[in-house]
Amino acid sequence: MPRSGADVLRGDKKLNLLWQDTAVSKDDRSQAKGQKAVCLWFTGLSGAGKTTIANLLDQTLHASGQHTFVLDGDRCRTGLCNDLNFSDAGRAENVRRIAEVAKLMVDAGLIVIVSLISPLIAHREIARNIFEDGEFLEVFVNTPLAVCEKRDAKGLYKKARQGIIPEFTGVSSPYEPPVDAEIELDGRAHPDQLITAIRLKLEELGTMEGPFG
Ligand code: ADX
Repeated sequence: MPRSGADVLRGDKKLNLLWQDTAVSKDDRSQAKGQKAVCLWFTGLSGAGKTTIANLLDQTLHASGQHTFVLDGDRCRTGLCNDLNFSDAGRAENVRRIAEVAKLMVDAGLIVIVSLISPLIAHREIARNIFEDGEFLEVFVNTPLAVCEKRDAKGLYKKARQGIIPEFTGVSSPYEPPVDAEIELDGRAHPDQLITAIRLKLEELGTMEGPFG
């Protein structure tokens, strides 16, 4: 269920929290930037290509005058989430925390690109429910485990297979693919092709004006 100020008021009465709407609305902020603020939530295995595609999309949208920001798992885990491990609970909190930050950025009128393994459907649902309808677009970077493992850019799959890294996604910890992602990408395709596919899809969904901003 999308959360509103009223929900917070109802839900957190005991904490004496009051949601105060600001004079400048989310719509005011996104209109000032000439865009629709959304969160594009990239999910997929380690090595699927999420970060590469997210950064290229960021660069492309920025170059066409849009206001964007990338929240990347590896980066956030060195700061905002550096107290969290890779247990189910640690990953759930990682997802929740980053979704809350992304939500604030959407409130600021930005196009936020999140790149996070976020392996469990239930966790991604929690993230989705933080946003208003239509603000959260799940992007599944679908790259087979064998391909990710062959790429092994960070050498982590090798270590996971050797048992040096525990609870590694796809090896010793589950990855649940989305069943109804708004956008699904074949992670084996060239990143440039994928950016074109994403932009066409965003136009189709009415998130972005075509042709290509
Ligand atoms: S998530 O599962 O909690 O969403 P997140 O995207 O933040 O993961 O971080 C994934 C990154 O952490 C990987 O790209 C990898 O570099 C590193 N990493 C370290 N340990 C693990 C692990 N056990 N499982 C997955 N990724 C790990």
